[in-house]
Parts: sequence; structure tokens; C-alpha cells
Amino acid sequence: MESPRAGALFRIADPKIAAALAALSTPQKISRYRKERGFPGLELLGLLMDCQILFKLREGDTDGLRPSEGDPNLVLWDFHDLLFHTHSTEGRQANPLGGLYSYSDLMAPLPAVRSPWPGQAIDLNSASAAATAPSPFATLLDARHSIRDFDDGHPIALGEVATLLQTAARVRAKWTAPSDMGEDGPEVSYAARPYPSGGAAYELELYLAVNTCEGLARGFYHYDADRHALTPIEARPQDLDGQLSDAEFAIGASGVPQILIVIAARFGRVSWKYSSVAYSLILKDVGVLMQTLYLAATDIGLGGCAIGTNNIDRFARMTGLEFSVEGPVGQFALGRGITPSSDDSDLG
Ligand SMILES: Cc1cc2nc3c(=O)[nH]c(=O)nc-3n(C[C@H](O)[C@H](O)[C@H](O)COP(=O)(O)O)c2cc1C
Repeated sequence: MESPRAGALFRIADPKIAAALAALSTPQKISRYRKERGFPGLELLGLLMDCQILFKLREGDTDGLRPSEGDPNLVLWDFHDLLFHTHSTEGRQANPLGGLYSYSDLMAPLPAVRSPWPGQAIDLNSASAAATAPSPFATLLDARHSIRDFDDGHPIALGEVATLLQTAARVRAKWTAPSDMGEDGPEVSYAARPYPSGGAAYELELYLAVNTCEGLARGFYHYDADRHALTPIEARPQDLDGQLSDAEFAIGASGVPQILIVIAARFGRVSWKYSSVAYSLILKDVGVLMQTLYLAATDIGLGGCAIGTNNIDRFARMTGLEFSVEGPVGQFALGRGITPSSDDSDLG
């Protein structure tokens, strides 16, 4: 038995305990429950309460519905979404994660290109408009690639960070509109940004872990997309170091990135409306934003690399935010790439 809220994993070896615990999925008066079942003992129940797997209903709450479960922040999470979030990130679970090749003994890797469907294919090569020169957008797309090593002697400058954030992530329009719940629904506020977002939720926030940047002190910052400003956040130096060196490891780089952009989600902004698909929508939004960051960085001669892992507990420590309220869902390493002229030994 486990819970995204608990730093504990219980192995249940006795089916009687499993049955007794299953009965706790609906509210029970403990005295009657123990008399009828005779088990489990108070010690186990106390342990489960300490781990926040078991909740004591608040005085007067008898319905056992989610708002009375003890943590209002959890009300907006679907069960599978919270489990997915905590299991696909680091910090609140102990399973190894990442490129483990767990199934390499069982089967060969799938080919990079799918085998063609049978039947007569319509050749698009001859159908494409005969362009004389690729458009600026096609050229930008073609130039985009991941850059993992950065030029230590030539750090990114604050002006470039400002341009990148302005291009990719600033708030460019704000409005309120009635929700589509019907007449009784509340007004909902919106703040659109340059990239598309499921339901126009724009739940993603950018935090910058800065290692080296000309004109900006090393530290941790929130990007205020509305005011187009960076706000410093007091984080413990060892957490900042850990965040940057984990990113270095994740991209197999030879040093920490000049800046690590941490993409965090205000989960409730999406799950207030969407059931069952909220977390998957957020991850799709992250992909959209990652590509936008790639293109905006490439456009101004900077380099970057998306990162698939992040530590949700460290972010909670650095920001003081509850992991279930706002937390990281993606990362992007950013800096000035090493060019052939700045380091002839590494053309990668
Ligand atoms: C969602 C996502 C996660 C990624 N995670 C990592 C990562 O953790 N480490 C890494 O080195 N590259 C990561 N990448 C970069 C890919 O390895 C890279 O895009 C791919 O090899 C294609 O190369 P290109 O970007 O240069 O075209 C990620 C890319 C995406 C889109």
C-alpha cells in the first residue's frame, strides 16, 4: 500500500489486513470497526495516520467526501493523476527512473520508422509546392536542435533572457469570461501567452535556476509573465546546486547549464474544469512550451535542451509551495552553446 502523500511503502502480507484496510475506504467509527474486525491494532492505524494514508474526519464531517478528507489541496486531483505525477517524477518515490532498458532482454527495440501500410501510397514529394527558398520559419525549424554543453567563457546575458521570455512566455492579453458551465457558473479569468494551451488555462509558470548570466545574480527566480519581470526566491544554496547538477546529469553535459528553466504547473487551474484528462493536458502543454522555448532560443542564437525528469520535493522545498498545489512538470536547459570557433574540440 502506498500513497503519493507518504514517504512509506507498506507490504501487506496478510489477506485479513488487506480486507480490514479495504473497509476503511468508507468512513468508520474506529471503536466499532475494531470491535467488529478485531484488527488491525491501533499502532497500525496510528502509523497510517502519521503517513497521511488514513485521515481522521474533522469534527462534524460525516460524509467522507473529498473536501473533508483533511487536505483541501487534494480535492482537485483525480486519483490516477496524482499517482502518475508522483511516480513519473523524482522526490516522492524510490523507484529507479529514466533510461533503464528494463525490457531489452525481452524484445528488440522498435524501428525508428514505422513499416509502411500496404496499398498504393500517394507521393507527396512531387505534390509539395515548389519553393524557391525555404521560409524563415522552415529555416528556424531546421536550425533547431538540442544543445547540452554551454560556453563557460561567454555566458548568456540578461537582455537575451528578457527577449527569450518576451517571445515565448509573456502574458499578451487578459480578459474574464463566464465559464461554459452555464448561467450559474463563475467568471473565469484568462491570461493568454504566445503558445497554445489546453482550455486556454495557461497553468504553466516558469522558474529560472540561474548559474551564470551576465547582469543577473546566481539564484532562483520566478518569471512574472504578466509584468515581464523576474522575482528572486530565497532558496537554500544546496538545493540550487542540486537542481543544476541533476540537470547536468540528465542531459549528460560536461557542466551545469547557464540557466535551467523549470516549468511548473498550477494544477488546479486545469483540474478545476477537466476530469480524468487534467494531468495529461498539462503534460501536452509542457511539450508545446518546450518547443516554443527551443524555437525562441534558436532564433536569437542561444541553445537549449528539454529535460524529461525533475524533482518535485526539492522544488517544494525551494518555493515553500505544497507539491500538490504547484510543482515542476518539465525542465529546459538554456545557455550559449559551444560553437566550433569557441571550442574546436567539441563540434557536437
Ligand atoms: C519531452 C522531452 C524530454 C527530453 N528529455 C531529455 C533529457 O532528459 N535529456 C537529454 O539529454 N535530452 C532530452 N531531450 C532532448 C532529446 O534527446 C532530443 O530532442 C532528441 O535527441 C532529438 O534531438 P534534437 O533535439 O537535437 O533534434 C528531451 C526532449 C523532449 C522533447
